[in-house]
This record gives sequence, structure tokens and C-alpha cells, in this order.
Amino acid sequence: MGKTAEPQNISVLLDEKRRFPPPKGFQKSAWANDQSVYAEAAKDPEAYWARWASELTWTKPWKKVLEWKPPFAKWFVGGKLNASVNCLDRHVYASESDYSRRNKAAIIWEGEPGDTRVMTYWDLYRGVNKFANVLRKLKIKKGDRVAIYMPMVPEAAIACLASARIGAVHNVVFGGFSAESLSDRINDSKVKLVITADFGWRRGKPIALKQAVDDALKSTDCVENVVVVERNHGRGESPIQCHIEEGRDHWWHRLMDDAEAYAEPEEMDAEDMLFILYTSGTTGKPKGIVHTTGGYMTGVYATTKWVFDMKEDDVFWCTADIGWVTGHSYVIYGPLANGSTVFMYEGAPDWPEKNRFWKLIEKYGITIFYTAPTAIRAFMKWGTEWVDKADLSSLRLLGSVGEPINSEAWMWYHNHIGKGKCPIVDTWWQTETGAIMVTPLAGITTTKPGSATRAFPGISAEVLNEKGEVVKEGGGYIAITKPWPSMLRTIYGDEQRYIDTYWSKWGKGTYFPGDGVRRDKDGYFWFMGRVDDVMNVAGHRIGTMEVESALVDHKSVAEAAVVAKTHEIKGQAIYAFVTLKHGIEGTASLIDELKKHVATKIGAIARPEDIVFSADLPKTRSGKIMRRLLRDIAEGKALGDTTTLADPAVVENLRKQYESLEGS
Ligand code: PRX
Repeated sequence: MGKTAEPQNISVLLDEKRRFPPPKGFQKSAWANDQSVYAEAAKDPEAYWARWASELTWTKPWKKVLEWKPPFAKWFVGGKLNASVNCLDRHVYASESDYSRRNKAAIIWEGEPGDTRVMTYWDLYRGVNKFANVLRKLKIKKGDRVAIYMPMVPEAAIACLASARIGAVHNVVFGGFSAESLSDRINDSKVKLVITADFGWRRGKPIALKQAVDDALKSTDCVENVVVVERNHGRGESPIQCHIEEGRDHWWHRLMDDAEAYAEPEEMDAEDMLFILYTSGTTGKPKGIVHTTGGYMTGVYATTKWVFDMKEDDVFWCTADIGWVTGHSYVIYGPLANGSTVFMYEGAPDWPEKNRFWKLIEKYGITIFYTAPTAIRAFMKWGTEWVDKADLSSLRLLGSVGEPINSEAWMWYHNHIGKGKCPIVDTWWQTETGAIMVTPLAGITTTKPGSATRAFPGISAEVLNEKGEVVKEGGGYIAITKPWPSMLRTIYGDEQRYIDTYWSKWGKGTYFPGDGVRRDKDGYFWFMGRVDDVMNVAGHRIGTMEVESALVDHKSVAEAAVVAKTHEIKGQAIYAFVTLKHGIEGTASLIDELKKHVATKIGAIARPEDIVFSADLPKTRSGKIMRRLLRDIAEGKALGDTTTLADPAVVENLRKQYESLEGS
């Protein structure tokens, strides 16, 4: 556990005595309403997952539930289905005896300026079919990769579902990433077509997405076509000019005008790829996490239904952007496979004022709200007066995701947003796991503030120590000891990295997620943060090496070391220690320039909070930078073991320098 960043104070966690049993009445009506669900799943996990899978629509049944050749799993072998059919067709074309959701709202959307749209399941079905035909006309076929670089508008969901319909593999890139990050992801997965928008709104400013695509395409040669959504189409003039390159770029609405109404869905094998999503790891190069169709759909369908206790008339708001896995699984695939109503919002929570989220909950009668601790801590800081003005009585369940939630934030969420009556589900999972892995079930789990409680039924989670021994009570690493349907299948184009990163710590049958965790005497999990060189800044994963490579790319920088430091709102913030090239002076304007450089190279989320210039960095005799010592310096902690350092004076000097900077 030497590397754990210790985001939470362990003694505070273990002293937590508060208990929150499911509210009266909740258990009775909940989908998961009896503790026996755990034992039932554990008795025969394959049969349990097969029951979930059978609630989806398949065109051919599977022959075998699981084929496990560690670390390679195939789920629902031989089964055929299509993800878009499961999210759309089966709701609009339900037989007469079934409940038809054709006229039910699938997506209720509000743009940041206040423009609104409601798309019924029929509208979404029609839009996805037409856009699937557009993609086919642009020569996209099964297996081709399509990049989606969009603001939070309904077309982002349409783009994903349409590529799923024709068997193309989507690669969504968060709209806050830079042109360079976009081109890296395009090149790594050899994308043939990009879907974007002229712009999206963020804090009252237009973010020029298409401009970033134009820049990205200067360093790629695989993209043949770009489809551009006009953000303000039919709703007034665009605030920015958008370049359209004849022959390569096409307006979405023009293509849709000419598209045929129905697109035959591609029959996909359960193990055919559904999407690639890049996430940061411990090297400078993000990993393309590969998810397949049958297992992923089963995982997100099951967890949406049970974790959020999703009912027919719920209005579900997951605040994540579709650029992250949370947006894939709980804005698009999980809720739509359940036939739920999803609310989607384009902009910032504090625009035009700090009560925007609460006004939206009141306006649309949101019943289930799923957000990140970093947002909750920001709301706390802004003060309850913003919350108190709104009627939040429609809420019945709250969720948290992305990073450990400290008990103070949990209690604030419970008291001020849930008004003491809504259960909170703190859900632990990852891009790699595809779906929620550790979580309370609101109808049956007694929660403890700050704990994600227990593994979802059918998931085998343990705490292991370095040697791979089970820790019944105490600290260690979270491990998943059996395969699960929505698990990643590989890293795109890099199978060896898949094996090395996730399946090598304790042998090929045990998945290593890279999180530190403690288990209490009731068997509850308390997540402690990453144990590798991955930071979690405002719920977003960023690799220290990625930021280091961006810094070293600057002409003035000789060497850089990046660490995360505990931050009141963001959970962690990025601190960089930089050695400049000979003769370059470390000025305040250079600090600004370097911060900007990182934002341009990666995206604003990777911008360092602060940069310290140093003549040297602490290194072992073999030349390895000791980030652990730099973390100690940044956190103002007593320095750990310095005996392996080549030059112990370096770290002392650095500390003095850092302290004088903090004091200034
Ligand atoms: O460290 C864990 C943290 O987020 C990491 C996964 O990040 P990403 O793949 O971007 O997916 C985020 C959304 C699922 C994990 O390794 N994490 C996520 N949820 C929690 C969490 N840490 C503690 N508690 C959580 N509920």
C-alpha cells in the first residue's frame, strides 16, 4: 500500500458509526427486495447472469454462457443481438400485450441557454435509424471505427446508437479533450469518420468543437468524412463560424433530410465490439478499453435496474458527459435498455447561477440523481441557500460515482439534496468494468456514509494483500476474482498491455483494478483511491506520465515529475515539479505558459494547479524519479525513506523551496 495517496482519513472512516437502513416502504417496492439475491447469485453466477441476459432481446440464443480462458472471457457464446434494438426497437414495437413505450419520453434535454427538447422513444428510434443510413451511405460498415466528439446534445446519443445499429465501433472522445488528444485517439483506433458539432455551450461560452476536429485532422490520415451537427439548428444563429471542407465535411441535418427511414440492424455476435473508450493509465499513452455487445448490455441493463431501482415512470439524471464511461453506461445503454426516461443537460452546474441543477430537478421532476463527489463538494461550498430555493421533493434515490465520497459530503448529500429520505448509492466501478461493481442496493442495504458497501450480486470482489491473500478485515487492494459479463475484453491493439496491467499481479484469473480499499467487520468496502500513478482529478482519471510528457514537450523543460495532492473540491489536484533547460529562467509567466501548454496538449482537465521549478528531481541511484517523496512534499508530510536517493540533499532543497512557495 506504499503508493496509496490516502485521500481519506482512515481513522475517521473506521469510526463512522452512522447507519442508514432502507427507508420504510422502499424495500417493499424495490426490484431487489430480499437479501437472498446475493446468495442466489453466488450459488451459480453463470445461471444468474444468463437470467439477466434473457431479459434482453436476442435474435439467436447463446450456446454457452461463459468461456473462460484466463484472462480472456467470452460471454453468451454464439448469441446474436443488436444494442440499438435493445435500446429502441423493442420499446416501440412491443407486441400489443406488452407495455409499449413508443410515446414515452426517452430523452428530455435542456441546453445551457435554456432551450429544450423532448424525444420520445419513437423520435429516437426514427433518428437513430436515419442516422444509421447516413453512416452506411458514408461507407461505414460493421467493425469500422467512428469517433464521436460532441457536446451533451441528443445527437450524441443518436450517434452512438446509430453506429451500434450498423455494427460500427464508436470511440467517444470527451469534448473537453484537446485536438491533440483527439488525433491520438483517432490514430490509435484508425477512425474512418468523425461526428462532431460546430460548438457546444459551457458557462455561457461557445466551445468550438469542429475547430478542434479540423486541427486534429491535420495529423491524421485515416478519416474520410466528418459529420457536423449544427448546435443551433432551427433555433437561431450560431455564435461562431464553422469551416466546412467540401467533400469531407457534411452538415448532419442535410444528410438526415435525405436519409431513408428504416435501417436494418446488423446482427451482432455477443462478442463483437460495441465500443472503444480511452482511459488513462500509468504510461503516457491512454489505453483503448474494448467492450463487446452481449456482456456489456447485460451488465448495464442489470445494474441500471437494480442499483437505481429503475421504474417505468422514473426520470433519471446521470450528470456525466457521454465522453466518460458513466455517460455510456448510465446516460445511454443502461437506461435505454430498460426503457427509462433519461434527462440530459448540456452545460455547467453554476450557469447562469449556482442553483441550475436544483432548478432542473424541480422543472423536470427528476426522481433519480447520479453525480460525482467533486460536484457535491462544490455544491457544499456554494451553500445551501441555492438548494433551499428549489422543490426537490420528486427525488427518491441519489447516486455517487467517480471517486471516494468523504462522509461529510455523503451527509450533506443525504440531508440537503435527499432531505433525509432518499437512499444514497455510492457506486464503485471503472471504464474497464463497464458497469457498477460495488454498491448498495437501495431496498435492502443499510448504508454507512463513505462506504460503497457490497459487491453487486454476481460480482466476486475481495480485498487482497500484496501476496494475493484474502484480507477479511483491514486494508489491501480490491480484486475481482471471477469474470463478469461487462468486463473489458482487451486493450485495443495491445493485448500484452491488457495482460500485464490487469491480470498479472496475482495470476491470470484475478483482475487487478488498481484501487486501495479497506474492509470493515461487516464486510463493507471503503475505497481509498488509486494505488498506481493515476490521478483522480474531479472524478477524472489522468495519468501522471501523460502530464509529464506534455510538460517535457515544451521547449524550455528538461524534466518533469507530476504528483497529485489532496484538494478540497476536486479530490486531487495536479502538482508538477519541473527542471528547466540550462539557461532558462523560471518566471511566473513561464509557469502560466506551461500550464497552458498542458491544457493545449491534453485538455483543460489536466492543467496543473501549480508548478514548482527545481534544479534537480529526487532520483534513485538507478535514475528513477521518486514520485512518492514528491507527494510527501506536496502534501506537507514527513518525508518517507530517502536512503535510496542518489543525492538526499535534492529533496531537502525541494521541500524548502515548496514550503516557501506555499507560504508566499
Ligand atoms: O479509483 C476508482 C475511482 O475511479 C476509477 C475509475 O475511473 P474511470 O475509469 O474514469 O471511471 C469512473 C466512473 C466509473 C476507479 O479505479 N472510482 C470510481 N468510482 C468510485 C471510485 N473510487 C471510490 N468510490 C467510488 N464510488
